[in-house]
Amino acid sequence: MVDDKPRLNYVMAFLSEILRFRNALPIGVFHKTMVDCKLGKHNIPENTRVVLHQYCILMDQAHWDKPDKFIPERWFDNEGQFLSNKPAAYIPFSYGRRICPGEMLAINDLFLALR
Ligand code: HEM
Repeated sequence: MVDDKPRLNYVMAFLSEILRFRNALPIGVFHKTMVDCKLGKHNIPENTRVVLHQYCILMDQAHWDKPDKFIPERWFDNEGQFLSNKPAAYIPFSYGRRICPGEMLAINDLFLALR
């Protein structure tokens, strides 16, 4: 049952690490600016293709210790509990307004298949 999620820490950690380590959409879904925009210090003109390079972020050493290693234990806090707050760089479902609306369903499905 999905209610078992809080008890099965290792299954949740394994699942999170799989989604980081072998992300299904490494370059996300392409977007296009509809108006001139500013992102940080970058000016992005209207009609520009924008790619959120999920692979780069999910494998970035600046955000992950040994990113090229499969380490489910990285998802535990000091007490061995599954992290309730995900790192900002954890973006397998993208980010922002168009973030995947199926995230919870996908996580629950994968959990039920793995448990
Ligand atoms: C492991 C499974 C899944 C992964 C990794 C995933 C990942 C993603 C990503 C990266 C996007 C692109 C977001 C963007 O445009 O920046 C997306 C969009 C979307 N996903 Fe998923 N997804 C998963 C499962 C699902 C499921 C189960 C559903 C629905 C039942 C779903 C429905 C959608 C829809 C409708 C969009 C388009 C959202 C929009 O453009 O506003 N996804 N997904």
